[in-house]
Amino acid sequence: MCGIFGYIGSKPNASQIIFEGLKTLEYRGYDSWGIAIQKQESIRQAQDVSRIKNKGRIEIEKQVGKLPAKLFNSKFSTLNSQLGIGHTRWATHGGVTVPNSHPHLDCTDQIAVLHNGIIENYHGIKEKLIQDGHKFKSETDTEIIPHLLENYVLNKKMSLLDAMRKTFNQLNGLNAIVAINTNSSEIVAAKNGSPLIVGVGKDELFLASDSAGILPHTKKVIFMKDNEMVRLGSSVELFSLLDGKALKPEIETVSWDIEQAVRGKYKHFMLKEINEQPLIIETIAKSYTNKIVELATIIKKAKGTFFIGSGTAFHACLAGTYLFSNIAKHHVNTAPASEFNYLEDFLTPNSLIIPLSQSGETIDVVEPLNHAKKKGSTIMSIVNVLGSTIYRMGDHKLLLGAGPEKAVASTKAYIAKIAILIMLSYALADKLDEAKRLLLQTVKEIDRLIKQPSLTQIKKVAKFLSSKEHIYVIGRGGAYATALEGALKIKEVSYIHTEGLPGGELKHGTIALIDKGTPCIVLAPNDETHDAIISNATEIKARGGVIVGISSKKSPVFDQWIEVKDLGSPLITHVVPFQLLAYYLAVIKKLDPDKPRNLAKSVTVK
Ligand code: G6P
Repeated sequence: MCGIFGYIGSKPNASQIIFEGLKTLEYRGYDSWGIAIQKQESIRQAQDVSRIKNKGRIEIEKQVGKLPAKLFNSKFSTLNSQLGIGHTRWATHGGVTVPNSHPHLDCTDQIAVLHNGIIENYHGIKEKLIQDGHKFKSETDTEIIPHLLENYVLNKKMSLLDAMRKTFNQLNGLNAIVAINTNSSEIVAAKNGSPLIVGVGKDELFLASDSAGILPHTKKVIFMKDNEMVRLGSSVELFSLLDGKALKPEIETVSWDIEQAVRGKYKHFMLKEINEQPLIIETIAKSYTNKIVELATIIKKAKGTFFIGSGTAFHACLAGTYLFSNIAKHHVNTAPASEFNYLEDFLTPNSLIIPLSQSGETIDVVEPLNHAKKKGSTIMSIVNVLGSTIYRMGDHKLLLGAGPEKAVASTKAYIAKIAILIMLSYALADKLDEAKRLLLQTVKEIDRLIKQPSLTQIKKVAKFLSSKEHIYVIGRGGAYATALEGALKIKEVSYIHTEGLPGGELKHGTIALIDKGTPCIVLAPNDETHDAIISNATEIKARGGVIVGISSKKSPVFDQWIEVKDLGSPLITHVVPFQLLAYYLAVIKKLDPDKPRNLAKSVTVK
């Protein structure tokens, strides 16, 4: 949560570079934004950034709301600088106001700070700082940091780097902190828990919460580890936060392309990412064989396997339990990652935990993994982001290969997870070729679903649903996981209350809510669940409900029908109509499907 972007280098337009960087990170939070630049007295078009003259001041621009299309109206549009930091906020402490947005300043306006995380012990520190005469302007936990740095830098004459270490080690919680000041040409940052990545360009350095922000400039990155601190000046210097000793930075190369991170011809990232799905599945089917066989061997040996994930990733976990049971006859457990902390007493060194995560940073996943590590269990990370926390925590690792996912509501990363789980389950049953055939047929079917005439039918259903306040989605077997994921997609971007549930559970409570005109989306693949789910649909219809069927055959009980071919599993193809329904519902309701209210894509706070 919260996006961080920093720039120091030979180009004179730091504010513009930071603004563009923040745009790529806006999915992390978009309540408000702010940029601080160091305004130098004389700007040199220098190659050697260490020689920038830097007597000067810090200039700040902060605004509530999403980033504007351009920086034109800001005072920054005419202000030159070669050093600065910026932030997009997802509010935790203090409302969405200009004073609460980042960067925050010390009493003398000489130190500017950005923060991602929650400082659990900020109350006591703030009281002490106020007693000592510091003046606070916001309600945030963050603001204690510039005041602490002020004590060390201005009163005790420490370097910004030493002051950062002293300050950071006083704070409890999982945090990433970035600071600049008026009298040194450097950006100093420290982290534990929240992500920070350094981009290494020619005569320029970047700092960001996500490598996607750095991609337009360089593919060379350093993934900062927990309890590390950097100083970006004329070069990158890395230090341990624990003992202050210098560390050797490891430069890695990101494989993503810049084209994957931009919207291109699409109006929204969500639509672009839905359209990328056929190619992602094809790539997984054609090039993941060796890695899948390797991981399947480890799964076979484990005594107790557990899938964990949050939100959409949890639905993929649930889908995995059906696939492993049906295809591989292999028992796995699952739980939402935030619940796994309370369920893991039975873990042993022989247990295997498989976290699924797009961002690789979700704190609800990281926490139980830390506990599992302490118990000696093995971790097999399946994530989308190279170098992310969960990726690094894995004893074994597999990248989803979905490319950067920008829309907050996850689509292509979900499909990639399911494709990989299909490959793994068939590999466990020694039938990997069958999985590849199935996935390649899926590619064709998804390609059909995202084009005309299928799109017209899906838009028609979206129009019908757009006036409704409640929608129910039912499925049985694997389609239950699809029902949960479908309902989540619709509620995330259209704000219509949508509930997914197993068809059999309907009569145990929820049927009380069905009234004349209540819409219910029914997943009716032509498999062992078909007859029972059609009976459930008939029960709903008898109470006035309106049935939208998703199936290969049109049933008389359907009032509306979206055709999806049966390809052996409703877990992958049947999700796509929900993604498109959700997208068009948002468009019809004039909402931004890429940035739903209150949500953030990467949830790094509890
Ligand atoms: C947030 C997002 C969801 C996502 C979940 C897990 O809640 O809004 O869309 O499914 O985090 O994210 P992960 O990156 O771990 O897959």
